[in-house]
Amino acid sequence: MTRIAVFISGRGSNLQALIDARARGDLAGDIGVVVSSRTGAPGLERARKAGLHHCVVEPADHASREAFDAELDRVAKQTGCGLICLAGFMRILTPGFAQAWRDRILNIHPALLPAFPGTDCHRRVLDSGVMITGCTVHFVRPQVDAGPIIAQAAVPVLPGDDEKSLADRVLVAEHRIYPLALDLVLQGRVRVIEERVVVDAPVRSDDMLVNPAP
Ligand code: GRF
Repeated sequence: MTRIAVFISGRGSNLQALIDARARGDLAGDIGVVVSSRTGAPGLERARKAGLHHCVVEPADHASREAFDAELDRVAKQTGCGLICLAGFMRILTPGFAQAWRDRILNIHPALLPAFPGTDCHRRVLDSGVMITGCTVHFVRPQVDAGPIIAQAAVPVLPGDDEKSLADRVLVAEHRIYPLALDLVLQGRVRVIEERVVVDAPVRSDDMLVNPAP
């Protein structure tokens, strides 16, 4: 069974969604290690409670980005992991690392990529006036928030939303699609062909999110 390394920097609610999916039997893999780039990240406590192997790899303890990434690589390999999930991991990986783990690193982004990449995306979503946003699970490439898209969920932007209310609504969708996308990858049902994902899974064509409601 494939082992997964989950990289976090903070709260770890997406990590929790993966832990819960595994506990329900909805994940065809095991979490081999949780790595935090920050000491005291609340997500580490979630890992501890779930009985998962966990550790901190701090950028400040490494002389360069390459040295930091080399340590991440060492920890992932030492714990027998064949797949990496970024879950609120606030560091940009070096091109060498992204290449070495090509198609074996997943990320979740709280917007409908390729729209609104980068940090602060809920603020920019609100400023833009779009009425539908969402979240995206994708394979990681050296460019930030780029790479073949594995799954997306659409979420309405509601009148009166602020960054917090919107982020909270998108987060519910994140927790739904991250385990789903990861499970498809673990089951070998996701292929990357010419930088696009082909998924062997049923597609819903009968549903539509319209905002405002018709
Ligand atoms: C999530 O919104 C994720 O999409 C983004 O950072 C946030 C992390 O939240 N990359 P959590 O640490 O998983 O609770």
